[in-house]
Amino acid sequence: MLQSYDPRNAEIKVWVGDGLVPRDQAKVSVFDSSVQGGDAVWEGMRVYQEGVFCLDRHLDRLMDSAQAMAFANIPSPAFITEAIKTTLKANGQTHDTHIRLTLTRGEKITSGMDPRLNQKGCTLIVLAEWKPPVYDNAKGVRIVTSAIRRNSPMHVDSKIHHNNLINNILAKIQANHAGVDDALMLDNLGFIAEMNGTNIFMVKDGVLLTPHADACLHGITRALVIELAAELGIRCVERNLSLTELYAADEAFGTGSMGELTPVVDVDGRVIQNRRGSKITQQLTEAFHRLAGRYSSPL
Ligand SMILES: Cc1ncc(COP(=O)(O)O)c(C=O)c1O
Repeated sequence: MLQSYDPRNAEIKVWVGDGLVPRDQAKVSVFDSSVQGGDAVWEGMRVYQEGVFCLDRHLDRLMDSAQAMAFANIPSPAFITEAIKTTLKANGQTHDTHIRLTLTRGEKITSGMDPRLNQKGCTLIVLAEWKPPVYDNAKGVRIVTSAIRRNSPMHVDSKIHHNNLINNILAKIQANHAGVDDALMLDNLGFIAEMNGTNIFMVKDGVLLTPHADACLHGITRALVIELAAELGIRCVERNLSLTELYAADEAFGTGSMGELTPVVDVDGRVIQNRRGSKITQQLTEAFHRLAGRYSSPL
């Protein structure tokens, strides 16, 4: 499924560096670290009528990623929050909006890998687009297993939410060629890690299962689903999961800020058969939709 284009996005203003510019002028320098080496960290956030969803958790994770990357002169969470609010206000965006928040190591004095060439501080980008949840959550998604492995801490730790998305992009290309919606990625031992842009859960015999957050992003939606399961009295276990277990799941779904909770209906041609008729995805989805008021930072 290709995301649709909302014509309102032709007129948006984007925050780049220290202020807002019209979309067609929203650019970074060829010396910027994001161009030179994908040397940037990012967050994807959703704006509901109640405000920016889980803003504090996203800013915390952004700061953790920037710290792990040893960025210098990182803008404060208060500055970033103000930049987000200013951007949303300028675009009149109060709902159905997705924010791609990027912090690059900044501009280099000359091309090169060495972070000491970065002497101007970070570049902040707040790209807020009109974009309702991107998947058809009523229909669900079909996925195939990719040959590309998701990084464990043995390589580039997936806990850094960085812009080097090549492994996920290669996986997505495989999904495109297979004519399905997304790719499932395994870890270096062959256990399920996550999908190319979302975390994964399955249900078997009334138990909610998800991989350890070892070779996947420690998703904010993932964490909320685990919290909601506890509130609803649904047992949730984090453990290694094999493909065979997923093929035989009663239910499966992906989680992410971009698409919320998205049922997975087919994995490698195996249609997910809900023989027990459990409704845990639906229960969690309904509970998730009630969270907007609890976790949103008003604009
Ligand atoms: C690879 C990957 N997995 C999972 C997620 C979902 O994370 P979250 O729930 O924090 O949006 C994302 C979101 O950016 C992602 O890029």
